[in-house]
Amino acid sequence: MIRAAVLVSGGGTNLQALLDAKAAGKLPEVEFVCVVGNRRKAYGLERARMAGIEAIYLPTVRFETNEAYNIALRDLLLEKKIDLIVLAGFLVVLGQTMVDAFPNRIINIHPSLIPSFCGDGFYGLKVHEEALRRGVKVTGATVHFVDGGTDTGPIILQKAVEILPEDTPESLQLRVMQQAEWKLLPEAVRLFSEGKLIVEDGRVREI
Ligand code: GRF
Repeated sequence: MIRAAVLVSGGGTNLQALLDAKAAGKLPEVEFVCVVGNRRKAYGLERARMAGIEAIYLPTVRFETNEAYNIALRDLLLEKKIDLIVLAGFLVVLGQTMVDAFPNRIINIHPSLIPSFCGDGFYGLKVHEEALRRGVKVTGATVHFVDGGTDTGPIILQKAVEILPEDTPESLQLRVMQQAEWKLLPEAVRLFSEGKLIVEDGRVREI
């Protein structure tokens, strides 16, 4: 059994996908120990409470620097003996402090096919706006391990989603979530929990 923490800043639909997978018996090797949110209004914290999981509000505004926040987060998650950290729409930059404490133990979901539409400034609706502006016909989602960069870590899973002529950023965001994100994230967590992900030379191999 692995001990997992999920970090959220917003609505937490990806967190919900994880909780639903757990309730459906699809993540037998995972215990969700806590959900951490950096915004008081993050609905993900409420979702955690409703599922009977400890919800921890660790506000970014209480810390003067990003590094100070990272240290507090690291200490909290080490104290809780967390094996896997899942970033599910967590909008705080994790620095080397967190990455060093949890090497290849932090995973993130990004709503594009990395290396397209990723990196600094590509988050939320912006990702989908840029995909539509560029006129790509296919986008998708990526689950990856977190390293020191922004969206640069080893890729675990990807899934493609078709772009339709009538798409708006909002409609595309929803379809990418429904068709890709909510499926990929539980699957990546399952593979991790069963010890099936090996990182070699910056790439993930499934065993
Ligand atoms: C998702 O699109 C995710 O890919 C991105 O932030 C969004 C979070 O949505 N990193 P939610 O809070 O899980 O509903």
